[in-house]
Amino acid sequence: MDTTIIRNKFISLFGNTPILISAPGRINLIGEHTDYNDGFVLPAAIDKKVTFAIASNNSRKFRFYASDIDQHYETKNVQPAPYEFQWTNYLLGVLAQFENEGVELSGVDCVFESDIPIGAGLSSSAALECGFAYGLNKLLNAGFSDYQLVQMAQKAEHEYAGVMCGIMDQYASIFGKKDHVFQLDCRTHEHSYFRFEMKDYIIALVDTKVKHELASSKYNQRRKECETGVRFFKKINPGIQALRDVNLDMLEQYKNDLDPIIYKRCNYVVSENHRVIDACEAIEQHDFHRFGELMCQSHDGLKNQYKVSCKELDILVELTKSLDYVHGARMMGGGFGGCTINLIDRNEATTFQQEINDEYFKKTGIEPDFYFVNPDDGVQMMN
Ligand code: GLA
Repeated sequence: MDTTIIRNKFISLFGNTPILISAPGRINLIGEHTDYNDGFVLPAAIDKKVTFAIASNNSRKFRFYASDIDQHYETKNVQPAPYEFQWTNYLLGVLAQFENEGVELSGVDCVFESDIPIGAGLSSSAALECGFAYGLNKLLNAGFSDYQLVQMAQKAEHEYAGVMCGIMDQYASIFGKKDHVFQLDCRTHEHSYFRFEMKDYIIALVDTKVKHELASSKYNQRRKECETGVRFFKKINPGIQALRDVNLDMLEQYKNDLDPIIYKRCNYVVSENHRVIDACEAIEQHDFHRFGELMCQSHDGLKNQYKVSCKELDILVELTKSLDYVHGARMMGGGFGGCTINLIDRNEATTFQQEINDEYFKKTGIEPDFYFVNPDDGVQMMN
């Protein structure tokens, strides 16, 4: 990426030489809504990024400029900003975490621009948090480890955006690796990289272009439903700490004692954890047919058991069922809108785009957006 433009923009605004950072968005191949259940996920950072120019200033002022929307924001404290400056809360939330950790905050100037589509479920907010946290860590010589930065970025999301997200998005933005996906154990935070062979295949994201209201409140509600399931099983076996510790046999045994909704939510999470493990085996065996089947099963579970899909996502997935060059398709991320992720034959990318575009438009009146993405490196200094 050409960093001259953002550097020059920064210099013309603040007259100082910045450090430059890039932080990617993420995809998730499989393992949805498992991260906050101490389970497994299989994400990758992507070649869509937020680019930052950051420098200290000698006042206690925080001055931000969002280049894409041409908005400035300036403040002397790290209190959450008003709604129309929502984007600043991801940065202020990170500053607040540094302060909580006892770092003396001097003033900071920051300019950023992004090619991660907003509201499409590609974690543009995690990229904003992680890139800024990474930059501050360098600038202030704060000495936090990459893993601590992940945790601080996640807390910023909890406290300043009100979404009780798991750790996947921030983890992927920092630990992503070019040409690889990684399996993350969200309990131990150990991760292992898998080379994702993209010679014959391509990852296509199709953006429904809808984001339904209540997405974040439903997300928090699902978390609570999982916690209800854990409380139930804890009474039976006090060693159970999370749905990670529950297996399908236990679920069947206690099915009639559980609230039917809680049973469905738990069944989805327990099954999805298995699918992640199976999907990693499929990658090792280069079995993309199997991998695709698991993606489709994941969508079924998200739609019917976990109930975080929506009409538009289901239409997009359904449309792929008759296309034999699509190996797997499912909704991706939190749900209630955003993108589907599709694993397709590379040489059919154009056909795919045409067919899906026309059919989706016929059914919804919306023209979807398409993003063809590649697994890429996590957050980086660029100078
Ligand atoms: C959002 C959250 C993640 C994860 C996914 C669902 O992206 O930020 O932590 O829970 O939803 O898998």
